[in-house]
Amino acid sequence: LEKQELLYEGKAKKLYKTSESDVIWVEYLNQATALNGKKKDLIQGKGELNNQITSLLFSLLKEAGVHNHFIKKLSKTEQLIESVTMFPLEVVLRNISAGSFSKRFGVKEGTPLANPIIEFYLKDDKLDDPMMNEEHIQLLELTTAEEIKKIKKMTLEVNTALQKVFKKIDIQLIDFKLEFGKQADGNILLADEISPDTCRLWDVKTGEHLDKDVYRRDLGNLVPVYQEVFERLLKLESI
Ligand code: C5P
Repeated sequence: LEKQELLYEGKAKKLYKTSESDVIWVEYLNQATALNGKKKDLIQGKGELNNQITSLLFSLLKEAGVHNHFIKKLSKTEQLIESVTMFPLEVVLRNISAGSFSKRFGVKEGTPLANPIIEFYLKDDKLDDPMMNEEHIQLLELTTAEEIKKIKKMTLEVNTALQKVFKKIDIQLIDFKLEFGKQADGNILLADEISPDTCRLWDVKTGEHLDKDVYRRDLGNLVPVYQEVFERLLKLESI
């Protein structure tokens, strides 16, 4: 398999074509961004940690029966994924109030939610990723009614699987963001990444933030924190 021309450069990764039409070569970058790109820094070691963490989690999710785009890790910063047409949606699931939910609804951070809640956002930097409901999604023809149902079901399955994983390593899964794509035959796959960039992870014992809020809120260096998450995940294999 050969790496070919650059297809897309995002804030945290570059996607390349390969000699196989349905396989994409992904390179994770060291760039950290927040506030829709208004805060931006190069952080040595970040790309490596996110690639390794997301590779591990997508493998676990595959084992748990959640169909996803991950094929294999190639190196510390690179992986192969299946090519899909992305839905322009960010799907957020929350178990505990934090971040924009706390701000928007005035609910104190750390307040458990009676049941997991799913939110949708339009993936559009120019519009600042507005929150939308299922009616907006269907009106704008971003998915069919069937597809959004499937996406919600898969999001809940990811939550169940990830909660189980993180519980074993003393981490509370507060919330996370997922993205989905569609294969040529219509099959929906979980795509993009799952890492401390896209989840809120709190240490069960200390309540410490083990995620990108460290960077967003200037709480310290993100690298040792992401390293801690990676090391705990590696220990999983021996549990
Ligand atoms: O900021 P907010 O509270 O809405 O974020 C909810 C979850 O979605 C957090 O885990 C955050 O890391 C993730 N998120 C993301 N990318 C975005 C917005 C939120 O990964 N563009």
